[in-house]
Amino acid sequence: MKKLIAGLMLSAMAVGCLAGCNGAGSGKKKVGVSMPTKDLQRWNQDGANMETKLKAAGYDVDLQYASNDVATQLSQVENMISNGCNVLVIAAIEGSSLNSALDKAEAKKIPVIAYDRLLMDSATVDYYATFDNYKVGTIQGTYVKDTLKLDEAAGPFNLEITAGDPGDNNAGLFYQGAYDVLKPYIDSGKLVIKSGQVEFSKVATAKWKTEEAQKRAENILSSFYSDGSNVDVWLCSNDSTALGVTNALGANYKGKYPVITGQDCDKANVKNMLEGKQSMSVFKDTRTLADQVVKMVTQILKGEKVDVNDTKSYNNGKVVVPSYLCDPVFADANNYKQILIDSGYYKAEDIA
Ligand code: BGC
Repeated sequence: MKKLIAGLMLSAMAVGCLAGCNGAGSGKKKVGVSMPTKDLQRWNQDGANMETKLKAAGYDVDLQYASNDVATQLSQVENMISNGCNVLVIAAIEGSSLNSALDKAEAKKIPVIAYDRLLMDSATVDYYATFDNYKVGTIQGTYVKDTLKLDEAAGPFNLEITAGDPGDNNAGLFYQGAYDVLKPYIDSGKLVIKSGQVEFSKVATAKWKTEEAQKRAENILSSFYSDGSNVDVWLCSNDSTALGVTNALGANYKGKYPVITGQDCDKANVKNMLEGKQSMSVFKDTRTLADQVVKMVTQILKGEKVDVNDTKSYNNGKVVVPSYLCDPVFADANNYKQILIDSGYYKAEDIA
């Protein structure tokens, strides 16, 4: 009899293992993680970090990338809902494009965390975890101000601006943070924008694409700088756009290399920083963000109080979303070793 019971237990365990290995029926909670694209280095890291850390915390994970295509992301999120995810973590391609899926999540009482990018115009967003986006912009603007010594130097300096995707709520915040620092100098004429392109809508880059940023920079250089005048600073909101601007300068520009800003510390851009082609970047440690989101997922599923540190800043048009803002960090050729290599974020050979 004892043998029979032990045998039954063993086969039950085997069945459990099989079911567990397939994810289905494992008794584990499942988390849907929807990422925008594999085209950019950072989202690959975000997705991989989330998957590893969620699995380590005991969850099944449904991780999907949407090739920067809004319709694909919508159907992926809908599938996550119909496949029984218990929590959704979403980095949207366009903040307002997923509302019909969010309505379905609400109907099934599936909590939603907006990841890095705020989900807009929907009341069905429970939490938001990101880096302080406005602060990213002020770090970039302050770097420009300090490097050109805008308070002391006579100037004028030529400035051009390349911002991010209008469908991404972050893009406007990065732009605004930097612009607020630089506006007094633009108003006084110490910073001159020869292209005249200054409003966000004029300097935005669809889908944050390197090629788009490059095309626009090439146009600006041939239309406004072919007389031999220098661009002193090119304010770029992130690394993918900075790469486009750097490529355009490499091909079309003979003047003194400008101060170029960025964000993310992508490997290609860190290499450019070390070669003196990009001046700085803003480091957002994707491991920190993933840790925070995994913590929030667990708190939600356990019905515990969820850890947030900002309940005012992120109004998505329908609700103010309780948020956790991680801290962005200034990076350049002087401190990259400490913040990127010593911290284990990259290996030295990644950026050699
Ligand atoms: C992120 C940036 C990233 C950009 C392009 C933004 O929402 O916050 O880190 O560079 O998207 O992917």
